[in-house]
Amino acid sequence: MKTFIPKELDARQRSQFLLGAIGPRPIAFVSTLDKEGRPNLAPYSFFNIFSSTPPVLIFSANSRLREGKPKDTLQNVRETGELVINMITFAMARQMTLAGLDYEHGINEFVKAGFSPLASQQVKPFRVKESLAQFECRLLEIKTLGEQPGAANLVIAEVIVMHFDERIIDSDHKIDPYQLDLIGRLGNYYYTRVQGDCIFEIVQPRSSQALGMDGLPESIRTSRILSGQELAILAGQTQWPGKEEVEAYMKEEAVAGFLIALPVKQAARSEAIHRKIRALLKKETPAEALKLIAACGLTEA
Ligand SMILES: Cc1cc2nc3c(=O)[nH]c(=O)nc-3n(C[C@H](O)[C@H](O)[C@H](O)COP(=O)(O)O)c2cc1C
Repeated sequence: MKTFIPKELDARQRSQFLLGAIGPRPIAFVSTLDKEGRPNLAPYSFFNIFSSTPPVLIFSANSRLREGKPKDTLQNVRETGELVINMITFAMARQMTLAGLDYEHGINEFVKAGFSPLASQQVKPFRVKESLAQFECRLLEIKTLGEQPGAANLVIAEVIVMHFDERIIDSDHKIDPYQLDLIGRLGNYYYTRVQGDCIFEIVQPRSSQALGMDGLPESIRTSRILSGQELAILAGQTQWPGKEEVEAYMKEEAVAGFLIALPVKQAARSEAIHRKIRALLKKETPAEALKLIAACGLTEA
């Protein structure tokens, strides 16, 4: 491991390390109006949701590393108290970067980057029509974390209206990440697209009664074949199968065949069992993997 003390790095290096390692970050496309009513649009990836009741979004408009002039977004939000946060999809990515350039105050990034302004319902700033998820917000508070270049100004905003394109809402009334097709920010000029293999599901045990790693027999927990990820699937199960269930399982032809064919030597036997467990986990049948462990008499440490 290489270890660094942030204070000992120069500002640029510190920022490179932090922004490179902490990601992907969602990107808020923040639409505001200045006090003369001129539109402004800019991307902010120091951004997230922090509460759903009330619905609160926070992003940070940091003081510029070169000169301390506040970003237009910050100044506008401070003056008007209203903003719209639009999520950025893959189809919007290139144009979004045009809106992220440092234009003079008063320049309309909707025009510069070619996005379509759409009237909001409860606030004056426009929504971005091309965005599939748009949040009309009111400012709750601005929290400034220092005066030095790079210091954060946390813009804490409450969502008062949300708009979702019909295409991103599935039949269960949930947001479908494949349809939303968001991008995220990584370090340097890297981005990620939330699509394809980038999306996977981990169905968590609903109960807090999961076996846990410490609930697995030691010979399994210390397996040289099963990975931490695989052990976690077993540990996420809520209970061991009952005696009768295991007995019935052992009588199944394929299982009985497997048990009889197990090598006598401990190391080889153990390897065969662990490989079989892995195969069952690959088939997404963890409950059967527990039955196998029990059938092999391994439930005791
Ligand atoms: C993808 C992306 C993410 C960004 N995230 C941030 C951020 O979180 N905080 C920040 O201060 N600047 C961020 N920037 C830079 C601002 O967008 C840039 O300084 C912009 O000119 C600010 O515009 P404004 O002055 O109209 O608010 C980001 C730029 C890009 C392209």
